[in-house]
Amino acid sequence: MSDAVCPYVLNPEGTDTHGETARLREQGPIARVELPDGVLAWSVHDYELTKEIMGNEALFSKNPRRNWPDYIDGKISDGWPLITWAAMDTMATQDGADHARLRKLLLKAFTQRRVDAMQEHIDSTVNELLDDLAAAAPDEVVDIKARFHMELPTRLMCDLFGVPVDVRAEVLEGGHKNIDTRITAEVAEANLANWQVAISNLVQYKRENPGDDLTTGMIAAKEEDGSRLSDSEMIGTLHLLLGAGSETLVNALAHASVALMTDRELLTKVKAGEIAWEEVFEETLRVESPVAHLPFRFATEDVELGGVKIAKGDVMLVDFAGVGRDPKIHGETADEFNALREDKTHLSFGFGVHYCIGARLAKSAWMTGIPALFERFPDIELAVDRSELVGQGSFVVNGHESLPVLLKGKSAVGV
Ligand code: HEM
Repeated sequence: MSDAVCPYVLNPEGTDTHGETARLREQGPIARVELPDGVLAWSVHDYELTKEIMGNEALFSKNPRRNWPDYIDGKISDGWPLITWAAMDTMATQDGADHARLRKLLLKAFTQRRVDAMQEHIDSTVNELLDDLAAAAPDEVVDIKARFHMELPTRLMCDLFGVPVDVRAEVLEGGHKNIDTRITAEVAEANLANWQVAISNLVQYKRENPGDDLTTGMIAAKEEDGSRLSDSEMIGTLHLLLGAGSETLVNALAHASVALMTDRELLTKVKAGEIAWEEVFEETLRVESPVAHLPFRFATEDVELGGVKIAKGDVMLVDFAGVGRDPKIHGETADEFNALREDKTHLSFGFGVHYCIGARLAKSAWMTGIPALFERFPDIELAVDRSELVGQGSFVVNGHESLPVLLKGKSAVGV
């Protein structure tokens, strides 16, 4: 470790994501933070520095097994709340050729054609969920986050990977706990073990019951030399994709819904075609990045960056929730949601070799789900004041615990 700055303790409750970033900005472009159990790290919220870090995997590695001394020396226990982020053997914890190999093998199965072919399935899933919501009474308070924003990505991901309906809850639970920064040591340790079992059972099931799904595709995917994903790589890749695919998109859908429910003028203009839905999508990602503080990267050398001395082995987190609101890029109005702003530059899908593999699928699901929700329920509104919404219990993602709404009148329109 390098600097004498007093670390800012990231709040595991995630109750004030943007307030925290504002306080971190007071330290400069890179801030010293403390993670659970006193683990120290650097948090980066400056747009240009974030690009420098994400664009240089030789200097900022994703691999804890090679570049995090405390992990290598066994000082990070299996009961640490963020343990799965370090212990998972996935493309997100690999660099260079090891990362490229895993990414390439996945992309052999997760082709552009497969994503494009999902549109019909996205349409029918959205319609099913909206039909289900339409059964609610007009004055019934409905948690739209649980019943629509979360259901849509989890169903899509489980269908994509061929996860049988009866094991979906246990397969998804690991990913949900993985982003909960409040969990106790017992829960963290059990989650790591249970998640491993749930996913290896799924791989075994798909070996015995192949289908037209991505898990089967990954089992079959071969490199040019004939080698395939090992069991541990298959399990890690599934961990990563099921979690990354659902725990992010849910908040891209939820934040956009809040923006549209609380700004009728915006909604009217979007529905009238004066503002494109895509502009709302981009502005949502900029102002409310679904990922907040993403674990981890590790400095592979001593380096000076943004005026601070980072030591070899130091832990780095990218604060995506802050990057999109960087005042150096977006000026004094950086914190304001304005779908009409010309420059909506953000890095909410990442940058460089680890750029999000699911960005296109996420956009298709959002561009279908959000317009359809507001078409079907034109008068949908929050059932509580916006200020009463409670944070999700995480500094890794940026979201609310629930979104109670009144659906009010409904139209019969489908996608
Ligand atoms: C709005 C939704 C989403 C957001 C905001 C998001 C965000 C991100 C970000 C910021 C990264 C880069 C992480 C880093 O550099 O450390 C990333 C990587 C990744 N995302 Fe997404 N993601 C979303 C949806 C999805 C979906 C739907 C999938 C799966 C179908 C997915 C799969 C992945 C994978 C596998 C990686 C790792 C890529 C690599 O390490 O090479 N994401 N995502």
